[in-house]
Amino acid sequence: MKAIAINGSPRKGWNTDLVLQSTLKGAADAGAEVEMIHLYDLTFTGCRSCFACKLKGAEPCKCFLKDDLSPVLDKILSADVVFFGTPIYFGEITSQMHALIERLSFILMTYDDYTKKLFHGKVNCGCFYTMNVPQAGYETMYADRMKKSFGVLQRLNGTVLEYSCCDTLQFNDYSRYQAASFSEAHKRQMREEQFPKDLEAAYQIAQKLCKEE
Ligand SMILES: Cc1cc2nc3c(=O)[nH]c(=O)nc-3n(C[C@H](O)[C@H](O)[C@H](O)COP(=O)(O)O)c2cc1C
Repeated sequence: MKAIAINGSPRKGWNTDLVLQSTLKGAADAGAEVEMIHLYDLTFTGCRSCFACKLKGAEPCKCFLKDDLSPVLDKILSADVVFFGTPIYFGEITSQMHALIERLSFILMTYDDYTKKLFHGKVNCGCFYTMNVPQAGYETMYADRMKKSFGVLQRLNGTVLEYSCCDTLQFNDYSRYQAASFSEAHKRQMREEQFPKDLEAAYQIAQKLCKEE
């Protein structure tokens, strides 16, 4: 069994990365071979509209662009489980994660018939979002948007589970930054009390996705 985590945050060692590391621990403990991919280490763009994937006779579900993301797309389609992690930036997934979703979406659809599924395998997916707002803010402002952003994962024929990790700690020392709208004491408390629960939830979701047929 192969499980991959895709980090859509530029910050290694921070919230999204830590949540994804916890998913990979859960997956490894469930017997999976695991790999972390940091999107911000790679050089790639969104879809370049080359249409090589839309040529008659082209290999299905294949991106022909020659950049660092094409092998990642191949890995996603050959994995058993994929964990996507992104911070929320201005109400959206990060630009690098968006570029990945754009590329993945295009290779999974055909203009012959928009409803046709081109991918016949099965990949279970976990989507993990980290953000500044508390849970209620996520529910009212972002939940629908995130579901839509990752809607293409339905084309991978597996189970898709989501988890929102809210009210995260953003800096190590709030006193150094212009960030008066946040209470450092509250953020620290969330980090100490809630974040370990988020890591545990990520671990459990990973185990569930790895064990699901
Ligand atoms: C450019 C930028 C935009 C952000 N926009 C939002 C936002 O719209 N809503 C929100 O709740 N948090 C927002 N945040 C906060 C991050 O989502 C949050 O700190 C997240 O946990 C960071 O993940 P990381 O620690 O993996 O980098 C933003 C952060 C940055 C840097």
